[in-house]
Amino acid sequence: MRSHDGGLAGRRGGASSRCRDPETTQCPAGAEFDVIASKLRPPAVRAGTIRRPLIERLALDDSRPIVSVVAPAGYGKTTLLSHWAENSSQAFAWVSVDEDDNDPKVLLGYVARALDAVQPIGSQVFEALASPVSSVPGSVVPRLGAALWSMTVPVVLVLDDVHLLHNLECRDALSVLADHVPPGSRLVLAGRDKPPLRIARLRAEGRVLEIGPGDLALSRPEADALLRSAGVALGEEDMAALHQRTEGWPAGLYLAALYLREGGPLGTAAVSFGGDDRLVSEYMRSEFLERISQRDRVFLTRTAVLERMSGPLCDAVLELPGSAAILAGLAGPTCCWCRWTGETIGTATITCSGTCSWRNWPGSSSPACTSR
Ligand SMILES: Nc1ncnc2c1ncn2[C@@H]1O[C@H](COP(=O)(O)OP(=O)(O)OP(=O)(O)O)[C@@H](O)[C@H]1O
Ligand SMILES: [Mg+2]
Repeated sequence: MRSHDGGLAGRRGGASSRCRDPETTQCPAGAEFDVIASKLRPPAVRAGTIRRPLIERLALDDSRPIVSVVAPAGYGKTTLLSHWAENSSQAFAWVSVDEDDNDPKVLLGYVARALDAVQPIGSQVFEALASPVSSVPGSVVPRLGAALWSMTVPVVLVLDDVHLLHNLECRDALSVLADHVPPGSRLVLAGRDKPPLRIARLRAEGRVLEIGPGDLALSRPEADALLRSAGVALGEEDMAALHQRTEGWPAGLYLAALYLREGGPLGTAAVSFGGDDRLVSEYMRSEFLERISQRDRVFLTRTAVLERMSGPLCDAVLELPGSAAILAGLAGPTCCWCRWTGETIGTATITCSGTCSWRNWPGSSSPACTSR
């Protein structure tokens, strides 16, 4: 019978004698790559972070084994999950995914180490990982799936930033892991795009809890608390306008607080704070613009004048053929794009049919630049 002993092993900060540190765990078959230890820990939660009621919703004794957290940059996905890990009595196994994990043995090596730190998963998985001739779908994935299924310590396995995974074997492996989550444990996939799972099937089976931008946007009282904790006091009217302008986008609200703390005009902050502010423009540049190819950047920048985009419309604006293919490459059912115009910010989803409508933040004006 499966033991439910509270599973303290492996929890961040949880000093359990059964806890094995993923940084020092000796894998039977040896490491085939350099392990970046910080990827196996939830990022530290900044002092003053607002505790979200969402954490209670996540911590509820929910029978759904998969949790999908999908929202654009800065919506507080990582913060929410780190906060949950920090406050939970359950064991967490954490992997912060990056581009270099688009090698299935690297990605699954991290997952194996994260799980092994909660409860030893045995040598077979590590042997398959270390073998140069072992097949990922034929050997590594089934062994890791079986090891996850056999865990007797309930675990919350978090993979953050899964939108960075484009390798098909990596994506397929996650689908298999999703089918091997034992009762009482959970697989949490967080990222800016829909996770690489058959979500429709999981939804139909009632096996997935979905958290999206609507859930992550800060409510008015939460936004008040964020500004207060950053040492900023705004009047009722300014606060209402700022909350409306940012639509509860946590990064935007925090940047607004920094802007005010740096001496931005207090009374007009709510109406003037936007894409023209240095802090927001730097954020948009690093989180969106620098992450797409030059070709896509030029395409999006030059078509940003369109409120709606489609292949033929973009061809007409650019006076070039091929827009439909570029849009198809940019599309995804929940692929969200932000448009920063230098004066305002808009968001939109490019659908699989390759169409897109911008929804500007309140107070928007004519667009000039588009980014992911
Ligand atoms: N609960 C919160 N309390 C206070 N600030 C928050 C909270 N959640 C998010 N923020 C602010 O928003 C910023 C972005 O949050 P976070 O990094 O969690 O977003 P994300 O959705 O994981 O973004 P990305 O897609 O880039 O990984 C944080 O650095 C912080 O300033
Ligand atoms: Mg994040």
